[in-house]
Amino acid sequence: MAALDPNKEIPQHIAIIMDGNGRWAAARNLPRRDGHRAGAASVEECLMVCGELGVRYLTLYAFSSENWKRPEAEVTALMALLAHFLKEKTPSLMKNNIRLQVIGQLTKLPERNQKQLRDTTEKTKNNDGLTLVVALSYGSREEIVDAARQLMEEARAGAIDPDDLDAETFSRYLYTAALPDPDLLIRTSGECRVSNFLLWQISYAEIVITETLWPDFRREHLVAAIAEYQCRHRRFGGL
Ligand code: FPP
Repeated sequence: MAALDPNKEIPQHIAIIMDGNGRWAAARNLPRRDGHRAGAASVEECLMVCGELGVRYLTLYAFSSENWKRPEAEVTALMALLAHFLKEKTPSLMKNNIRLQVIGQLTKLPERNQKQLRDTTEKTKNNDGLTLVVALSYGSREEIVDAARQLMEEARAGAIDPDDLDAETFSRYLYTAALPDPDLLIRTSGECRVSNFLLWQISYAEIVITETLWPDFRREHLVAAIAEYQCRHRRFGGL
């Protein structure tokens, strides 16, 4: 198993594109929803490992704005899985001092999910260990357009001068306003795409792509990704 270097930093913020649930299920002749269910166990393990290692933020791409195009039965199964996960795991979020935050166009989710997400966010808001950010009905282009629209409205109302706009100001209008940018972006299942995920925020993230399918992603895979991150030389455009 890859070893972490105690003299090198652990990424403060890890973002993960959890991919490969469907292929994992297909390889076992199981329905796709079983792949998603198995993926929930990987979420749990990542939460534990991130907590142990002192990672401050873990952002998971759980449902994209494009995922609404999937068959209704799969969307329903994913929403039910999310509801089940939160119901079962909220005590463990509290016990492990984990704060839940959610990003995305949440009003598109079923009201039952919205309420549960609001309740769990509220309940965990004073936890100051790991922050788990779940991206739901999330699309980065939509996020950027929403930010631009809000800025234009404020400019029209005279509350902001377009000449004062810079990257720092713009980022405060994104769903992630309160979060630092990810240091490490992991994508499972070998696909080399960013799929409309945190396009603005990953400008300087290190990207690690693993062949492992998400339901098989365990402690050793996360540690290996962090070890690879520790070997990278981040220059942020400088020398
Ligand atoms: C991508 O695999 C995965 C998703 C669209 C859903 C991810 C959701 C979970 C892991 C459920 C648990 C999450 C939480 C936060 C409780 P895919 O279906 O696109 O796989 P494929 O590319 O192999 O078809």
